[in-house]
Amino acid sequence: MQIRQSAQIPAGGLVVIANREPYAHEWDAAGNVVVQRPASGLVTGIEPILRACGGTWVAHGGGSADRTQTDRMGRLAVPPEAPEYTLRRLWIEEEAYERYYSGFANEGLWPLCHMAHTQPAFRAPDWIAYQAVNETFAHAAIEETGADGLLLIQDYHFALVPKLVRDQAPHVVTSLFWHIPWPNSEAAGICPWKETILEGMLGADIVGFHTRQYCLNFLDTVQRYLECRVDLETMSVTYNGHRTLVRPYPISVEWPYPAATRAEGASLRDAFGIPADAHVSIGVDRADYTKGLVERVAAVELLLEENPSLLGKYVFVQLASPTRTRIPRYQRLADDLKEAVDRVNGRFGTEAWKPIVLQMRTFAPEEVRQYYAMADSALVTPLHDGMNLVAKEYVAACEDGHGALVLSVFAGAAKELEGALLVNPYDTQQVAGTILRAILMPLAERRARMQAMRDQIASHSIYDWSEALLADMTGARQQRGRFWPQRISPSWEHPREVVAG
Ligand code: F6P
Repeated sequence: MQIRQSAQIPAGGLVVIANREPYAHEWDAAGNVVVQRPASGLVTGIEPILRACGGTWVAHGGGSADRTQTDRMGRLAVPPEAPEYTLRRLWIEEEAYERYYSGFANEGLWPLCHMAHTQPAFRAPDWIAYQAVNETFAHAAIEETGADGLLLIQDYHFALVPKLVRDQAPHVVTSLFWHIPWPNSEAAGICPWKETILEGMLGADIVGFHTRQYCLNFLDTVQRYLECRVDLETMSVTYNGHRTLVRPYPISVEWPYPAATRAEGASLRDAFGIPADAHVSIGVDRADYTKGLVERVAAVELLLEENPSLLGKYVFVQLASPTRTRIPRYQRLADDLKEAVDRVNGRFGTEAWKPIVLQMRTFAPEEVRQYYAMADSALVTPLHDGMNLVAKEYVAACEDGHGALVLSVFAGAAKELEGALLVNPYDTQQVAGTILRAILMPLAERRARMQAMRDQIASHSIYDWSEALLADMTGARQQRGRFWPQRISPSWEHPREVVAG
């Protein structure tokens, strides 16, 4: 356990609420229950902390066989092979879940916060479901959090939970970490229920973002839409007598990182029939329109068009995990991506060689590490991204220092990884030229750049992230004293309408 004790971790461990569960149980075709790990930067970042500190992760139980593995309260010990903390699954009724998750969170807040030019959809029934599901999660979080509890609320799915918890259980110290960007105040103003969202968030003792810019955008937004006092000196907001700190906590990955060996990477290359001297670029993403996947394929196309000497000598391997597949925009993206890859392979491919290998399925973390080990460079070119942990994972995986990272300036990670080759993902010519630069880069330069990025991650790992956040939460607890009543929830009614039986 590497979390230093400047933060006091409660005896029962931490309580985290996040929509996505770290382990899902699914029925496979043969009728067996199998464990699946989701493709999620949030899970990559938060899970090592709970493994280190113990505690409870409260999440939506979304796996088809999830109910077969829990006790009556929806609890089970995880990781399944060597338990270290508790997962508590909540069963949300299907229609409410669709409206809250696909609707309000992912068709409303997601495009609102990302500058990826997809119009947000705000529908009243989605908003009603979002409020109800937030109540369900707040109720469970209060149940799980002890008298000295620290509650870590994750992401845009739960903007209302901090206030709900504060109203019902004011002794609980809460942080809300927003894993995606926060837009400028004008863009944020599109949301018809912005005041309620902001009031909900300001129930937290701490609101965290990945970058200082997102914090400033948020402060500007609350100043514009609420009667509150913003103090830029201390980065805090006082609203209705309650003070919330607004701070950047750039999320990161485990360090040391459990990298796959070069030999494992080489055997994967063999399995694909890629010659040892070919340059392999890797892309690892959820199949999301914010990730710039179609734009990336267009850049590879231009690269090959302008550099015929690379034909047969360059392969781009893209892992794209299906995500949010019930939302039409995501279905369109999946179709567009396949079409773009077919176009490039049709144009340049031969019997013996395909320039792009597209793998559309979910990958276990161990598998992803083999792909990192096979690659000579990584292409991380989102149109907009809060942080992007793939960029950091790839760097952490490059133990021999050989790899090159092509990184979008619009990913939060670009603020920290100075050794990366930065690109504007909308500029196809620039991305193509930069991939070529990565291919041709002398080994000494690759090593120097990679070393600078590895040093950065070594000194700013996920454990530093949690240490900083927990230290601030401990400070918030000390500041407000321990004078809150132990637990106030007599009038709490369980919001039954969204809880499936
Ligand atoms: O990037 C935002 C985020 O919620 C991450 O925190 C998470 O890794 C990712 O989206 C996964 O999304 P979902 O849980 O919808 O599959």
